[in-house]
Amino acid sequence: MNTVQFIPKSLEEKVEKATYTWQTPSNIALVKYWGKSNPQIPKNASISFTLNNCNTITTIDFEKKSNTNKVSFELFFEGKKKDDFKPKIAEFFKRIVKYCPYILDYDMVINSENSFPHSSGIASSASGMSAIAMCLLSLEKELIPNLTEEYINKKASFLARLGSGSASRSIEGPLVVWGEHPDIIGSSNLFGIKFPYKIHSIFENYCDTILLVDKGEKQVSSTVGHNLMHNHPYAEQRFKQANENLSKLSNILQNGDIKEFVNLVESEALTLHAMMLTSNPYFILMKPNTLEVINKIWEYRAQNNSSVCFTLDAGANVHVLYPASEKTKIELFIKNSLIDYCQKNQYICDNVGFGAKLL
Ligand code: PMV
Repeated sequence: MNTVQFIPKSLEEKVEKATYTWQTPSNIALVKYWGKSNPQIPKNASISFTLNNCNTITTIDFEKKSNTNKVSFELFFEGKKKDDFKPKIAEFFKRIVKYCPYILDYDMVINSENSFPHSSGIASSASGMSAIAMCLLSLEKELIPNLTEEYINKKASFLARLGSGSASRSIEGPLVVWGEHPDIIGSSNLFGIKFPYKIHSIFENYCDTILLVDKGEKQVSSTVGHNLMHNHPYAEQRFKQANENLSKLSNILQNGDIKEFVNLVESEALTLHAMMLTSNPYFILMKPNTLEVINKIWEYRAQNNSSVCFTLDAGANVHVLYPASEKTKIELFIKNSLIDYCQKNQYICDNVGFGAKLL
């Protein structure tokens, strides 16, 4: 695998002090990534919608230091010093220092905030890691001015992946594929790429309303979760199925077959949870209200000839997905029939977005 392309050869400019702020989004997988090998190589290819409103804003201040033998950083989250988040970020820097040796030259102060409520059960690792990666690439661009935008996005995704696999899909939008796949030209296990084919207009501005069914801490961390796929009796079949589903979804996204889209996306969500139900140790990550919501969505869809469907992350919250043309009706349906199943009636209205933004 060609990782050498991400090691800078020489730094052309000198930078004493710099500050960058990036806003990067969360994403929701349609074909799920669940299972990996070292170092953060996915067992199957995945694809996600990039979100718009769920994002992280991160500022990094870099100031040149004299001692260059270890990474030095401070971390603030929503204005408060967050030493308990430090080990994860320190581990991330350890993994990427080979590709960004210049981080050793600076004291870094990282300030981060999320647009979505803390402990909402929405994973912040994708938006969080991709925001740090973009700030590092802004510095790299100042040190090596001839870097292209294409290289910057690719390397940012490559770095973000080393922090959290799904973060590799949070640099661009509206649809990103991560993982090598014969039907997706340019796809790679090392970084995410924008879905390379023309997308049918029905998927433009697609909506995702996230119902906060359970705002608690994740019951299964991603690390534990992915490890459950080692020695899992159905693992190999699942990886094969996911790759087949990506082939099918690639066609669906181009031809606009919304019925097939609904079927495939819901099946992917339930399969992700089936993997957790059938691993050992086993987990039930859905809550009773998750099932209530799913049944209501099925009932509404049947009665109204609607294309609304759901997907799930590794948790109890439900992502309600629907075309922009159904927005008014589905928002009403959610208000009238679904918010009672959300903790404190909370939900987040989002739609498909286009990726990282420099602020
Ligand atoms: O990026 P990780 O290691 O937190 O894994 C995320 C896995 C899922 O969110 C469950 C699925 C996916 O493809 O995003």
